[in-house]
Amino acid sequence: MNGITICGTGSALPENCLNNNDLTVMVDTSDEWITSRTGIKNRHIAKNETTAELAALAAQRAIENSKINNNEIGLIIVATFTPDYFTPSTACLVQSKLGLNDVPLAAFDINAACSGFVYALTVAGSMMMQNPDKYALVIGSEIVSKTIDYNDRSTCILFGDGAGAVVLKHKDNARLISYLDSSGNKDILNAPICDRRSGTVSPPLKMNGSEVYQFAVETIPKCITNVLEQAKCTLEQVRFIICHQANSRILASAAQRLGIKPDLFVTNLERVGNTSAASIPLLLDEMNRDGLLVRGDKIIMAGFGGGLTWGSVLLEW
Ligand code: UT7
Repeated sequence: MNGITICGTGSALPENCLNNNDLTVMVDTSDEWITSRTGIKNRHIAKNETTAELAALAAQRAIENSKINNNEIGLIIVATFTPDYFTPSTACLVQSKLGLNDVPLAAFDINAACSGFVYALTVAGSMMMQNPDKYALVIGSEIVSKTIDYNDRSTCILFGDGAGAVVLKHKDNARLISYLDSSGNKDILNAPICDRRSGTVSPPLKMNGSEVYQFAVETIPKCITNVLEQAKCTLEQVRFIICHQANSRILASAAQRLGIKPDLFVTNLERVGNTSAASIPLLLDEMNRDGLLVRGDKIIMAGFGGGLTWGSVLLEW
């Protein structure tokens, strides 16, 4: 796959925050336990914002950062497992919020849980080959809090809400290298949908934390080495690895397995927690705005999560 680069980023977080001390009032936990086991101190939890509103805000900021006009967008893909509607898709809602109802473009959602952004980037990259004059919006947006049982201390401490977006453009010889995989397992991590025929409310997200942990620690090195091999380059040539932000101990273990310094893995877990498909583009936007990314830098993005799904992308900034 050839010819894709990121030309702008944006993000959006709900106003309302929930820190570790707030959680100690809700469940039997402590700041010390959460911080030492996960690295998380704070997360943003939507009170009024919707998945599409956060997605559109992040998208508008990414468009402004790219210095293009809204009507130059030819494709919108939103990665989410927490959409506002079965239909219309979050991407169609974003299209409308950006005032693009009459602009010809393709808009749809992708659900690959926490790997969703990497999946969406790959799909956008291959679709853009057919329409190289247009720009693509790839967004990860989640209100994970609507799936969470705030009496379950093993899950409620982990997740936060937010959105991140990138604008992609065609660029000759800028390679986007991708690896995607999945294993079809609903027992380790699931968030069921309510079926109105049963008359029940949607059951909350359920997860076997230690199995996800083990899966993640084994999967991240696989994701990274796969794209490095395809690109015929080494870890020394990579400037940053931006992993799905699930747990700082997972990142440290993966770094140890790869024999690299943990600081190659950037993190914002402390401030926003695990935002599922939004985590990678949210962090990418922070890095971009902090001036950490230099054109020509090679970066790897790696996701893993429900499905089970996992995957990675290597590209040049
Ligand atoms: O995007 C992917 C989404 N999933 C993940 O990121 C999850 C990955 N897994 C993890 O991050 C970790 O497995 C957790 C942070 C969820 C749990 O950490 P752990 O070190 O694997 O703990 P554990 O599940 O083995 O539980 C150890 C103990 C248990 O108590 P007992 O049975 O030993 O008495 C739990 O009940 O810790 C207890 N525990 C807590 N204690 C205080 C579980 N949650 C909490 C809590 N506060 N919030």
